[in-house]
Amino acid sequence: MRGAAHSPILKTGHLLGTQLLSVEEIVGLLDLAEDYVTLNRTAEKKTSVLKGCTLINLFFEASTRTQSSFELAGKRLGADVMNMSVKSSSVSKGETLLDTATTLNAMRPDILVVRHQDSGAAELLSRKLDCSVVNAGDGAHEHPTQALLDALTIRRHRGSFEGLVVAICGDIAHSRVARSNIHLLSKMGARVRLIAPRTLLPADAERFGVEIFTDMRKGLEGVDIVMMLRLQLERMTGAFVPSTREYFRFFGLDREKLALAKPGALVMHPGPMNRGVEIDSVVADDIDVSLIHEQVEMGVAIRMAVLDALARGLPRGGRNTP
Ligand code: CP
Repeated sequence: MRGAAHSPILKTGHLLGTQLLSVEEIVGLLDLAEDYVTLNRTAEKKTSVLKGCTLINLFFEASTRTQSSFELAGKRLGADVMNMSVKSSSVSKGETLLDTATTLNAMRPDILVVRHQDSGAAELLSRKLDCSVVNAGDGAHEHPTQALLDALTIRRHRGSFEGLVVAICGDIAHSRVARSNIHLLSKMGARVRLIAPRTLLPADAERFGVEIFTDMRKGLEGVDIVMMLRLQLERMTGAFVPSTREYFRFFGLDREKLALAKPGALVMHPGPMNRGVEIDSVVADDIDVSLIHEQVEMGVAIRMAVLDALARGLPRGGRNTP
């Protein structure tokens, strides 16, 4: 199961963002995740590559997919997994992120998975703690495991990324998923397009070196993969769109707009979805075009691969520093 030797796949010992990953690291993780797709489809589903390792999930923001799949991933690999309940923790008494994390670090975890509302939170912890840190989403900055699971899903359907046209549509300005996908897909040779109203594009969107469209109908022409994003209302200060009804009319993916993409184009969404706002249920639930449930399945496999990759870099027998 562990592939060729036990060489580290993730050179830094952390996973903080796709911007920092090499093509070799990305391919290494996708290849390893394929083993875990196979394992997860067996009745047993378990291995012991993380036996003796302690994994802590520390989520300061809500999550269904990411937190549960990291928990399952750790358990299927044989780790001891602890989900920190931030709401009932001493964070509610004013304890800071750093104090919370250093307190947990004193319990000698091997891997800390963190989601936080501030960009740079995971990177900060990676400098202050002596365990591996995985960024499960930091503000509007990065969500690397989402981009990796998206890449795994795309590769399983299209074989490679070279020349593939991928449109990322919706609230790009507030989306860490968009940023992680832009970095990863561009590195792998895909042509990335951003489709959004001007108000939902980052002010400096041009710096990503991707094509930008403010007309969804034009932007979808010739696209292989349509990746939809939700309006991140919790990150907005003020109104960025006149109304959700008007937003759906111009930027919601329905059958009519999807027909403008390449024949056989596939639809993705990281979830959670706002049906009738950025995507029509008829498209989201169409198993011939929608990869949304497969993305969730790939999420467990990719997170197993990330944990395995990080564990390969841990000292044998766990940490033994005084
Ligand atoms: N895609 C994603 O990060 O979903 P959750 O917020 O449910 O983890």
